[in-house]
Amino acid sequence: MTTTIDLKWPAHARRLADQLQQAGDIRSAAWHSAVAATPRHVLVPRAYDQDHTGAWIGWDTADHLDRVYAAQTLVTALESRGDYEASISSSTTPGLMLRMLDQLDVHDGHKMLEIGTGSGYNAALLSHRLGDDLVHSVDVDAELVGLARERLATIGLHPTLAAQDGADGLPDHAPYDRIIATCAVPTVPWAWAEQLRHGGLALIDIKRNFNAGNLALLHRHQDCLQGRFTARWASFMAMRHNQADDVQAPATHQPGGEPRSRATDVSPRPWEDNRVVWFLADLIGMPSVTIGYVLDPANRQPTAATLTAADGSTVEISLTDTSIGSWPLVEHGPTPLWPIVERAHELWRDLGSPGWSRLGLTVTADTQWVWIDEPHGKHQWSLTN
Ligand SMILES: C[S@@+](CC[C@H](N)C(=O)[O-])C[C@H]1O[C@@H](n2cnc3c(N)ncnc32)[C@H](O)[C@@H]1O
Repeated sequence: MTTTIDLKWPAHARRLADQLQQAGDIRSAAWHSAVAATPRHVLVPRAYDQDHTGAWIGWDTADHLDRVYAAQTLVTALESRGDYEASISSSTTPGLMLRMLDQLDVHDGHKMLEIGTGSGYNAALLSHRLGDDLVHSVDVDAELVGLARERLATIGLHPTLAAQDGADGLPDHAPYDRIIATCAVPTVPWAWAEQLRHGGLALIDIKRNFNAGNLALLHRHQDCLQGRFTARWASFMAMRHNQADDVQAPATHQPGGEPRSRATDVSPRPWEDNRVVWFLADLIGMPSVTIGYVLDPANRQPTAATLTAADGSTVEISLTDTSIGSWPLVEHGPTPLWPIVERAHELWRDLGSPGWSRLGLTVTADTQWVWIDEPHGKHQWSLTN
């Protein structure tokens, strides 16, 4: 029986495809027709928004076709973590997805592996583009894989889906021509290189600390994966292996000693404002940190940013006093955190203020390093030490 939604969604999907084309995210007729033919509301029947208190509010996408056929990330699964709920899966904003598929230079006949099935929306796009027999996708979450399989089947698509840790790839169906990772990794699993055909391409989100990294487009050479970071920055949720890995260890020590106060001339939110500097800070020694904000109780606007390391070291940097291009900060604890950001900023200036596309990554079976301009040049930073 044909329902009103069946009649309505194709116009919404076509409009989304047109919008993505106008924005430059779709550059071929083949991807336009894949977006126009894919019922996102079937793959994402329910999505969640966070209100100002942090609570998640669910909504049925069939009741809001304008919102589900939009260039918007939709949170699709939540997990309870003690006293709060965390987002554990989302349908990536279609603009980013299509841009990545364009960067991956996908052609007819390519065999594809996706890491992070999630809703199955991307697997559906790929299945339209390539035929479902060439599409393989894995997700660590068996429930998500089961739902994606059922929903894909209702629209006549049967790509190969597997519930397993994507760090292992999907060796039984290798080699692949293209690998797309839709969850972020701190280093590239060598299994992905082994399962990629020579000459193949992988597009992978490398992230260590929060926002410290970007997508890297890597070519499969004889003994390595190698390529550059993409000019536009993007971010995916981190790959998870089990719950213990995901929960950030609380600071184990109270910061000791006297607070150290001074001012900095490096602007206080590089993880938002200058992510190359933030990545360099990570590469030259920033320990794993959690980022927080101090809010003004009257209007809930942030007045200071905080970094906290596992050894209890903290820095609190004022966000408000920018009148003279310097920001007051207070540090506690054994590890001076902000000097690492300042050194990274100085390095970035010395290197000629590079954007992402001057940075590259080489991955071998034994080691992985980030470089600037050329893989074996003067500046290299290990990802594996
Ligand atoms: C941004 S979502 C993927 C979006 C998806 N491609 C889509 O089209 O809806 C990230 C996904 O990565 C999955 N994930 C996290 N850790 C993983 C792992 N170790 N192996 C495979 N998938 C993983 C999550 O369960 C989540 O579904």
